[in-house]
Amino acid sequence: MSHLPASFEAIYQRPPTVVASAPGRIEVLGNHTDYNAGLTLSCAVGFRCDAAMAPLDEPVALLASTAFDTPPERFPLTAPLAFAPRGHWANYLLGLATALQERGHTVPGFALLVDSAVPRSAGVSSSAALEMAVLTGLVSMMQLDLPPIELARIGQWAESRAVGAQTGMLDQLSSLCGQRDHLLLTDFASGATDTAPLPPGWVFVAVDSGVKHDLTVEYNDRRRSCEAAAEAMGVATLREASLEQLDKHRPAMPAEAYGCAKHILGENQRVRDAIDALGRGDVERVGRLMFESHDSSRHHFRNSCPELDRIVEYAAQDARCVGARLSGGGFGGITIHLVRGTDAERYRGDLLSHLTPADSPPPWSAVCAIDDGAKLVT
Ligand code: GLA
Repeated sequence: MSHLPASFEAIYQRPPTVVASAPGRIEVLGNHTDYNAGLTLSCAVGFRCDAAMAPLDEPVALLASTAFDTPPERFPLTAPLAFAPRGHWANYLLGLATALQERGHTVPGFALLVDSAVPRSAGVSSSAALEMAVLTGLVSMMQLDLPPIELARIGQWAESRAVGAQTGMLDQLSSLCGQRDHLLLTDFASGATDTAPLPPGWVFVAVDSGVKHDLTVEYNDRRRSCEAAAEAMGVATLREASLEQLDKHRPAMPAEAYGCAKHILGENQRVRDAIDALGRGDVERVGRLMFESHDSSRHHFRNSCPELDRIVEYAAQDARCVGARLSGGGFGGITIHLVRGTDAERYRGDLLSHLTPADSPPPWSAVCAIDDGAKLVT
């Protein structure tokens, strides 16, 4: 980070006028509930993406990243998405510009250098960190004051246009609103957020399953099943349905839709129960809810896989871990483990040596600090 303004100046021969920073996130409970107007518990993590920016006189975006040893690429802002090459990271940012323009804002030309320490494709949402860092910088340059829910909506739009997954806003809101050492409770029916401290001494260990997920197919498919269940019950969203209603309408819906809705209703309740438990400082209860959540993913929502299950099964027989589950979209990606900070490194090492065949590199893993959300650095 400290080198970013100097690196920007070396590339663009002028200092940045704005530097913004945004973190990755982990989903603690409330799996796939965000796009079902449900409840989530998440946190921002200490892996951050920094974005240095300065306005330009012409309507173009000059985009560079410290991850690539190449000169800035130039994209016109007159019709940004039309010029985004498929699969290029610029898609996320040109998507942000397009979303702002579609809301009637004039996006000025800008030069950008990003520097991200958020591991990519590791399940901690490096894309949301990138989007929210750049968007925070961009709206500051434009002197726009938009509420977090609107910034998240812009990021979600960019993400769905860039990647094709019809995701919710959990990743963006967590990256924006997270608070150090706290869990973030979000109610997606209203967009309201609140925080609850994680009792001191506890941390999350993240362990990648090594299975890469493509969210475009299964994710969208599960989303349709949730919508089908809501439709069969005659409600606008699953948030309005009860377990009794679900059981009553079971014969009127496909088995997948029933399973998905059962998971979502269960997840909403587990978030409520976790908030109660946090209020009493009962971390073990939060852990048990995490194991229950994984079980529900595995059997009802069917977004787990053997590799994720194997990791969570290890966690369940290790007394140092009070709870573990898949986190995020699923179908691969990461698991999270709630352990005491004093046990975390040793637990992580033991888990990895148990899981990793002698001739393979261990998958990505980390002890995650809970950090603040997006902010302007200068
Ligand atoms: C991904 C999506 C989020 C959310 C989670 C599952 O991370 O980007 O919007 O739906 O999956 O809870």
